Amino acid sequence: MNKQLFTFWLICLLPFTLLAQEKAVPTPQWRPVYHFTPAKNWTNDPNGLIYLNGVYHLYYQHNPYENKWGHMSWGHATSTDLLNWKHLPVAIPEIETKDTTTWIFSGCAVLDKNNTSGFGVKGKAPLVAIYTADQPKQQKESQFVAYSNDGGLTFINYAGNPVVDIHKKDFRDPSVIWMEEQQQWVMTVAVPHEHKLQFYSSKDLKKWDLLSEFGNQGDTRKIWECPSLTPLYVDGDPAKKKWLIMISSGNQDAATGMQYFIGDFDGKTFKNDNPAEHQQFVDYGRTFYAAIPYNNLPDGRHTMLGWLMPFETPTYPWRGQMSIARDLLLKSTPEGVRLYQQPAAVLNASLEKLPASKKLVKQQVEVDGEMPLNKGKQFSSNANWIDVTFIPGTGEEFGLKLGQNVANGTEIIVGYNKAHKELYIANEKGVVMDKVSVKPAEGKIRLQVLFDKSSLEVFVNGGERVLTTLIFPGEKATGCALFSAKGKVMVETLKVWDLAK
Ligand code: FRU
Repeated sequence: MNKQLFTFWLICLLPFTLLAQEKAVPTPQWRPVYHFTPAKNWTNDPNGLIYLNGVYHLYYQHNPYENKWGHMSWGHATSTDLLNWKHLPVAIPEIETKDTTTWIFSGCAVLDKNNTSGFGVKGKAPLVAIYTADQPKQQKESQFVAYSNDGGLTFINYAGNPVVDIHKKDFRDPSVIWMEEQQQWVMTVAVPHEHKLQFYSSKDLKKWDLLSEFGNQGDTRKIWECPSLTPLYVDGDPAKKKWLIMISSGNQDAATGMQYFIGDFDGKTFKNDNPAEHQQFVDYGRTFYAAIPYNNLPDGRHTMLGWLMPFETPTYPWRGQMSIARDLLLKSTPEGVRLYQQPAAVLNASLEKLPASKKLVKQQVEVDGEMPLNKGKQFSSNANWIDVTFIPGTGEEFGLKLGQNVANGTEIIVGYNKAHKELYIANEKGVVMDKVSVKPAEGKIRLQVLFDKSSLEVFVNGGERVLTTLIFPGEKATGCALFSAKGKVMVETLKVWDLAK
């Protein structure tokens, strides 16, 4: 730059250049305490969820360099209790060569116990990641495998990649399970714009054969991504096995969402139990997305993590968080078999271990108006887990008020409207963000409310419906209360845990 030009830039353009740069304001008040967030920078989907030797591994879509989507790599964290996470170095970084950029998109991880792949060394079972290689310059997505012989810390990309390639721009998010009876691996993978899944089988995780396709059923208004296929026992009865397919796509009212199908899978094809047009959704809030189940869990447990998609309010120095670990359950209902979700049962052990000062238990209390739950610093952390069962009375609406700011009257409401039989969440601006129809079960409404600084997960009636959203209460907005409007409600049982460290 010559001197004149430099002076012009310094005087006239530099101020604008500086102003144009987004001012990143740290937001520690919104950093969740018991939900996973990366130490810094962006995350989206959970990937490669696998349980190994008492440790839950979480790989995740990560931009290691910026607080926005890009440079997709697999970040890595581990936990022994699904509440506290240890950050580890990036496990699978993007691959940059002279002609190709390969971004490491979503996928799964399996423990290859019998070393079917031959990737294992010294008789040890390798951990194998199966992911989508997104190559923007080639306008292509195909499925790659990579293996780890150091317990999942680092991976080596297989020299024979891709292992599945149908020469498409959009073809992604493989999810692999081992089928003992058929002695085969089965991959479920999405062709997003065709609203379809493909199933492949393999004996060695390297050579894959197309089994069948499933699609154009349920909700097809948005692209299909991040599928999974999980066997589950209905009502816990081993004689009643069904297969659950979950897919991330749009739902009726929200920008994002996940739907599910229940049916049979014989190792080749999936047969939907419901008519093709029947639609069922996993979560009725606008933020729960890209959830996949853990592989290799003991005791027939099936537990998933989802991504809480950040919208509107930016957080810094990280963006995006994971949901609480959720158990997947299939239950018989008069309408047919339905998916129920519960915060993972293993989390109860951690709740029980909390000191008495961080627990509140009440029974048979009548609420008329507002009943505060926080006292001074107690239960004022905005990191509360609340389990409350209401028996509706004369009150037209009842529920919880969270993140209350007594000074300016703002609050977040998790409310049940008796006449509309509807649960809703209104944010600090009084705007109803999300709602879902749900009837009392045996005359009661049970709410399990997981409030963690900026996320809110509400499980209604034992997980018959789940509503997840993001909220951004002000720093001093830490009040928490039960309420009943225009009449009374009976609180049959109440338990509150304060999870702040
Ligand atoms: C879903 C998704 C996946 C893809 C990944 C890329 O959020 O679009 O389909 O693999 O994110 O980050």
